[in-house]
Amino acid sequence: MSGATVLVTGGAGYVGSHSVVELLNQGFKVVVVDNLVNASSECLKRVEEITGKEVICILVDLCDKHGLDKVFTDHKIDCVIHFAALKAVGESVSVPLTYYRNNVGGTLTLLEVMKAHNVKKIVYSSSATVYGTPQTLPLTEDHPTGSGCTSPYGKSKYFVEQILMDLVKSDETWSAISLRYFNPVGAHESGKIGEDPKGIPNNIMPYIAQVAVGRRKDLKVFGNDYNTPDGTGVRDYVHIQDLATGHIAATNMILSPNFCGWKVYNLGTGSGLSVLQLVKAFEEASGQKVPCEIVGRRAGDIDASYADVSLAKKELQWQATKGVLDMCM
Ligand code: NAD
Ligand code: WQD
Repeated sequence: MSGATVLVTGGAGYVGSHSVVELLNQGFKVVVVDNLVNASSECLKRVEEITGKEVICILVDLCDKHGLDKVFTDHKIDCVIHFAALKAVGESVSVPLTYYRNNVGGTLTLLEVMKAHNVKKIVYSSSATVYGTPQTLPLTEDHPTGSGCTSPYGKSKYFVEQILMDLVKSDETWSAISLRYFNPVGAHESGKIGEDPKGIPNNIMPYIAQVAVGRRKDLKVFGNDYNTPDGTGVRDYVHIQDLATGHIAATNMILSPNFCGWKVYNLGTGSGLSVLQLVKAFEEASGQKVPCEIVGRRAGDIDASYADVSLAKKELQWQATKGVLDMCM
């Protein structure tokens, strides 16, 4: 469906910017809206350098209905990929209203404006966090969601899925695809864009990278008494460029004339890796030693999480192609 115009909310962020590169490379026109609460405009300049194409970026907060309405008036949008959200799990526990206002309220505003402009196709950034503590592994899309989500962040992802489901049920001219990412890691092969969190990283991969370059002393490994082969937490790490191609597949699906309704897909590799295995792979790929100290468990962490990716393979014709060494480059 190249040639179509895709509105990308949160397109200056980590997952969004890599997906914008892929959209532009595939011939889509892209309009980004972002309030830069967790990104900088430099990132989209780098996207332009990588692709040699212009990115239209409009500084709008999703909760600003009037500003968003103008974007849809000024640009003829065919579909929306909705990345914009606040994502720090721990912070969401301290300021739940901020998270619900931004992630749920912002999405409601977006959907109302889309409806007013008769744009009724949306690809949504969801998360494996909606599954809570896995009852069975690997996680399939029909695993129960919601009840095990403990943080306001996780619940906001779950609530938006419910809202989208109800919307599609109420009006068959709407369609929505929810992509449940597992653990996105890595950077674009150009090295020009990647994950660059402000302050102390919450997630493991940027933390390891900062230890490797000497910015932090060592990696605190959160627990080695989990029910996993080496006792450390197991996750399904998926390369950010694979995630980006997953969005292309979903965008093509939602734009295809026969598509309607509600779909959910896991985006992961299908394999779990422990913290210690990830550290070892990073050391191999970078040639840098990553000193570790085992400390107590982090509140809210689970033993293991990895995806069953067969549905995405069958229906989206998508699968991850990059391995752990690519993720550590
Ligand atoms: P990110 O913080 O890098 O990107 C989010 C972007 O949205 C930022 O550029 C931010 O400035 C923007 N934004 C936030 N609130 C906004 C608002 N109200 N109006 C306009 N712009 C706003 O995060 P990311 O890692 O790229 O995550 C993107 C999406 O993927 C999020 O919805 C997140 O919940 C989801 N997700 C991320 C992960 C992960 O580990 N990175 C895993 C699963 C799901
Ligand atoms: C991975 C593993 C930690 C940091 C989070 C969100 C989830 C999703 C992805 C958005 C775990 C261990 C970590 C450290 C460590 N985001 N670890 N030392 O917790 O699986 O998922 O990001 O939707 O909602 O909760 O990812 O990278 O924080 O942790 O030992 O300094 O690394 O215990 O086993 P997590 P993570």
